[in-house]
Formats: sequence, structure tokens, C-alpha cells
Amino acid sequence: MTQIITNIKYLAGVRENFSPLRGEELRNLPIIEDAFLIVEGDQIADYGKMSDLKPTKNPKDLYDAGGASILPAYCDSHTHLVFARSREDEFVDKIKGLNYAEIAARGGGILNSAKKLGETSEDELFNLAWKRLEEVSKLGTGAIEIKSGYGLTLESELKMLRVIKKLKSKSKLEIKSTFLGAHTYPVQFRDNHREYIRIIKEEMLPVIAEENLADFIDVFCENGFFSPDEMEEICKAGLENGLLPKLHVNQLNSIGGIERGIDVNAISMDHLETVTDRDVELLSGKIATAAGKKWNGISTLLPTAAFFLRMAFQPARQLINAGCAVALASDYNPGSSPSGNMNFVIALSCIQMKMFPEEAINAATLNGAWAMKLGNELGSITRGKKSNLIITRAIPSISYLPYSFGTNLVDRVMIDGAWIS
Ligand code: NIG
Ligand code: FE
Repeated sequence: MTQIITNIKYLAGVRENFSPLRGEELRNLPIIEDAFLIVEGDQIADYGKMSDLKPTKNPKDLYDAGGASILPAYCDSHTHLVFARSREDEFVDKIKGLNYAEIAARGGGILNSAKKLGETSEDELFNLAWKRLEEVSKLGTGAIEIKSGYGLTLESELKMLRVIKKLKSKSKLEIKSTFLGAHTYPVQFRDNHREYIRIIKEEMLPVIAEENLADFIDVFCENGFFSPDEMEEICKAGLENGLLPKLHVNQLNSIGGIERGIDVNAISMDHLETVTDRDVELLSGKIATAAGKKWNGISTLLPTAAFFLRMAFQPARQLINAGCAVALASDYNPGSSPSGNMNFVIALSCIQMKMFPEEAINAATLNGAWAMKLGNELGSITRGKKSNLIITRAIPSISYLPYSFGTNLVDRVMIDGAWIS
């Protein structure tokens, strides 16, 4: 079926060349003003100025945008969207003044989510995740990465990954799956890291590879969680099973995770609240690691996690000015970012990290797609790419989107050429 969308005020993110955007390239969001867009089946077929649109034989296929604007649907490259229960009790404990250790001592944190997930059936987890997926897709997300990591046992990690696999097969959204068995050490392995790493390598990974349950492997590299050495070992085992590393590094401390992530060819390194000047140079690809490797992957920032945890925001300006390929993602999870609203992620990145609106939209679309290895199919308005689009309400300018934070300006969303809302 052919659909022709007419009278688009700003058609944003139009590109012929769609490699990851680094440094000052992020500032350029190509726009056609007063545009049309033609969708053929599930693909973007053509676009241009309204004045160049040829008259159509079948006016039934016309959709008049009436002065609304269109941008590529968001590519949210870092989420933990499969979880069993919310954790607002911890949220209130934090308001009361309890710190992370005290909350963990009360059974909070990742282990709390793991306990609840162990008690929840695969069907119930699927239904909960499905609702969240529907919600974020109506807010403009057209592609999403989802991690395991609230299982922490063979059975529960597989349960999570099977839920993600079922979401992939039932949802129209493009979904990528990440194995995050190394999210934290289960209590019984707190003093026996070797045994849990053995379980990951010898018991979990072979089944995951056999059943094709994941695209990527993630490790939470942090003091009190997984060391850079442990991360490297787990990533290498992942690579042997066909999973590319995509990592949680430098959220709370700079302990060498970035250097090691480059050595294992991570496709993205995510969080980055706490980075040294050398870390920034490594992320930008300007300098090589001690092992002689230079990086060209994606630096993914998760501002809603910093916001929710009342932490300093990621140094987006420093990273962009150094030439990094920055992406933005929601980190949707019950502990540090209980929201998958990419519109708010973009607004926060402009308000708190001084990203320009154009940079933020590029980071949440094209670079987000690259952070999931989907840059050839999604993330820009390009002939032949999938037609995943956001149509906004009438807006005076693109900057109005992050400026008017909290107002839902997403009017309709198209996934694979079909309107979902
Ligand atoms: O990305 N940092 C590690 N993992 C999650 C939070 C996990 C949780 O508290 O449930 C994150 O922020
Ligand atoms: Fe995360």
C-alpha cells in the first residue's frame, strides 16, 4: 500500500548518509520545511517539498498532516523493561533519607526485583512488559533494547529472555535483547564470584546461544558489582557465543570499565555519569587503550537515571565537544528510572546537560539506532528505511519539543508503515 503524507511543517532527520553522528555532526538535524512523505508498505519511499509533489491518482492514500511535524520514531537503546513489580517503597525510603546501603539491607535494589521476578510467571511478566511497551510506543518509541538481569539464576534469566523473545515475535516494534546475568551477584555468591561467573559462562550462555535468546551481553561494571577483569572475562564468553558487549560503565565510579570495554569492542558504553578526562578521550576514539585499541562505538547517556537518583548529570557537552558519538536512552527500570518516556529524556538532556534540541533528537533517534546495530534500518528519514515515524501536534519549531517538557506533543506514531495510535 502507498500512503502519501502531505503538508508536513517540518520533516526532521532527513538523511542520505546515516553513519553514527560524532561531535559537531550531532548539531545538524536536516529538515525539509513544508514537506510530503511517501510510505510504500513498511518503508519510506520518497519525500520532498510540497511544491514538488506530483498529483496523485488515488486521493484515498492521502493523509493531510495539516501543519504538524514528523520525525523518526525514537530508538531507545537501553532499557530494563521486563520487571515484575515497581519499587515506590524504596523511592519513599529515599525521600525519608535512607541511603543505598540501608535500602539494600531492607531487601531493596536489584535483589528485590530479582526476588519478585522469581515469583512471577512468564505469562504475567509478558503481560506487564507488553503494557509498558504499548505505553512507550504511544510516546514515540519505535525500536527498543530490553535487558535481562533481574533473574540472576539460570531459570529466571532464561524466563526473562524468553519473555523478551516473545515480545519480539508479537510486537511490531523492533526489539533487541541483551543478556545481563552480570547485573549483581546473588547473595549466595557474594563471596564466591568465581562460581557465579562459572554459572554465567557454562550454564547460562550455552542455552542462550542455543535458543537464540539474546543479541548482546551486558555487565554492570562498578565497585561492589563486577570488576573490569570480571567484565572482560564475561564479555569474552559472550563474544564466543555470538553476543556483542553493550555495557553499564562509570555510573558511580571510574574504575577502568571504559578502557576494558574498548578492548572487548563494546558496541555501546552506557551511563557515563562519572568520567575522567582520559575516559572522555578514550570514548571519543582520539586515544588508544593500553592494549592499543581505539574505539568507534556509541556513548549512551541516561539522564533520567541521574535525575531520579539525584546524581550529577552526564557531561554531555564535554563528550560531544571531544567528538563522541552520543546517544540518549531511557534506562526504563523500577530502581533508577521508572519511566520510558523518551520525550522527557530529550527535554532533560537539553535542560540539564545543555544539549541542543537537534543534538538530543539525533542522539535519541539515529545514534540510538546505531547503539542497537539498527542504524542501517532505522533512526532517520531515509529512502528504504523502515517507516517508523512520530507525527507531532502543531509545533512552532523543533526546539519547542524539549522546551515544553511534560506536555505530550506526540500525536500519532507509525510503526512499519502502520499507524498505531
Ligand atoms: O541501569 N545500574 C544498574 N542497573 C540499573 C538499575 C537497576 C535497579 O536499581 O533495578 C540502571 O540504572
Ligand atoms: Fe541500565
